[in-house]
Amino acid sequence: MALVSLRQLLDEAAAGGYGIGAFNVNNMEQIQAIMEAARETESPVIVQASRGARSYTNDRFLFHLMQAAGELYPEIPVALHQDHGDSPATCISAIELGFTSVMMDGSLLADGKTPSDFEYNVAVTREVVEYAHARGVSVEGELGTLGGIEDGHGSGQVHLTDPDQAVEFVERTGIDALAVAIGTSHGAYKFTKPPTGDVLAMDLIEEIHRRLPDTHLVMHGSSSVPKPLVDAINEYGGEIRPTWGVPVKEIQQGIRHGVRKINVDTDLRLAITGAIRKVFAESPGEFDPRSYLKPARAAMQAVVAERMQQFGQAGHARDYEPKPLDEMQRLYA
Ligand code: 13P
Repeated sequence: MALVSLRQLLDEAAAGGYGIGAFNVNNMEQIQAIMEAARETESPVIVQASRGARSYTNDRFLFHLMQAAGELYPEIPVALHQDHGDSPATCISAIELGFTSVMMDGSLLADGKTPSDFEYNVAVTREVVEYAHARGVSVEGELGTLGGIEDGHGSGQVHLTDPDQAVEFVERTGIDALAVAIGTSHGAYKFTKPPTGDVLAMDLIEEIHRRLPDTHLVMHGSSSVPKPLVDAINEYGGEIRPTWGVPVKEIQQGIRHGVRKINVDTDLRLAITGAIRKVFAESPGEFDPRSYLKPARAAMQAVVAERMQQFGQAGHARDYEPKPLDEMQRLYA
């Protein structure tokens, strides 16, 4: 099966009242782990690659790995999404490569660091929407900024999304999905204690959803940083400081209020690293990469499958016929 658009996945998720995990990848094992978890739980899924991932993997490798995923898992609707495109040129190159969805993150300037102004964000996002929709490809925009830095992308400052601006932004850009800043950040070090209402602004999601009931909302920085995954790393010589992520029950509350795409990267990195460290510590004589990549892949698959159950996407892979991009193109027109 061909890859499907993000828009179709999220429209179906909205109709069914569930969320869909968007999992970051950099290599073959991560793609395999996600697709196996999707098959195991019968889930539609979003596979996403940052600019850093595209340059690490090489675009052609990434494209063919995802083609293989479509061939090998024909029953799974899967969208291939550009995470945090920093400019229209990045998004256009992703679309030319075969991505079915792109994020134009105009909340930052093209350096990926400096917060932009509203008019800049509207202009670059609108430009990408026009190019993408003419090809049936979906677009995610972002308003407000997250904390933390991921793959060199991020201002490191939190600016919560303004609901009035969100309404104007969606009207003027025509985006399919809006990433909102509610106090989360990328990476393992999100909170120094369990997050409460004053650091994690879930009420903002409720307000934005009330004002924009037909716009799919996206939560970035949504790893939960579970203690067992951190402990597994530290037990075998790692040094992850005490830290808290976004509790799954907060994400579930978001899903009840219009959150349809949930970005998870850090939890998968933690799972992989813990599994590899364990093999290195317990079997220092091993030098076949498969001896540690297999358990790493299995550990990541377990986390992805758990999130698929928790976000509610499990069991929904066969609910609908995937629409080809040319059909999406006609719908947009
Ligand atoms: P985490 O670092 O919380 O996994 O967030 C990933 C993300 O938002 C990718 O865009």
